[in-house]
Amino acid sequence: MSTKSIKIAPSILNADFSRLTEQIKIVEDGGADWLHLDVMDGHFVPNLTFGPPVIRDIKNATKLPLEAHLMVKNPHSCLREYQAAGVGLVTVHAEVGHHLHRTITEIHKLEMKAGIALNPATPAYSIEPVLPFVDVVLAMTVNPGFGGQEFIPEVLPKIEQIAKMIKDSQREIFLEVDGGIDESSARRLIRSGADVLVIGSAIYGSDDIAGAMKRFRALADRQDKAN
Ligand code: DX5
Ligand code: ZN
Repeated sequence: MSTKSIKIAPSILNADFSRLTEQIKIVEDGGADWLHLDVMDGHFVPNLTFGPPVIRDIKNATKLPLEAHLMVKNPHSCLREYQAAGVGLVTVHAEVGHHLHRTITEIHKLEMKAGIALNPATPAYSIEPVLPFVDVVLAMTVNPGFGGQEFIPEVLPKIEQIAKMIKDSQREIFLEVDGGIDESSARRLIRSGADVLVIGSAIYGSDDIAGAMKRFRALADRQDKAN
């Protein structure tokens, strides 16, 4: 089990974008640790969302640190724009393959943190060569592209494997999990070694966003005490 405190990173993908400032403020007041921003390009995943110009406006609306989860085919192309928009952590997918080390190096040169994301079908060993360079590993617990999908419990053994790889590396690396997380899967993921929970619809799909955020914050804090 992790000895780090458990962090909550709400994903705004299923928020009401016509009331985004207000909806971000609710999770900020409720103790979110950072905001998870799902960038989709219609190529790496079928869906399309937003990019640096929208993120810049989000930055102006919140004090929370921002993560850009780049579900894009060519993450290298506008790293500078993400930095200028105020992003602190850029997470790129292992599956986009070639030049991953170069992309991570570039992210660090721009003074942002770097994360590496894995789809459910991508094995843990594929990130071994870049583990000495990353700040975050993001294990997807759904196939990326849409909010509101069902959690894939078969990914849990891989989370345990990654947690062990991180421990063995003796580096400070966050193990973040993303997709279909509710209170029950959150507990199982924490037990498997996850220490950052990305939560989309279980917060923003709720009729009571503040209440949902409060429940996840309490769940995370209880796990901290149990450690
Ligand atoms: C899926 C995204 C997730 C998603 C999380 O492609 O990476 O961040 O929005 O939302 P839920 O919690 O609804 O799966
Ligand atoms: Zn995401």
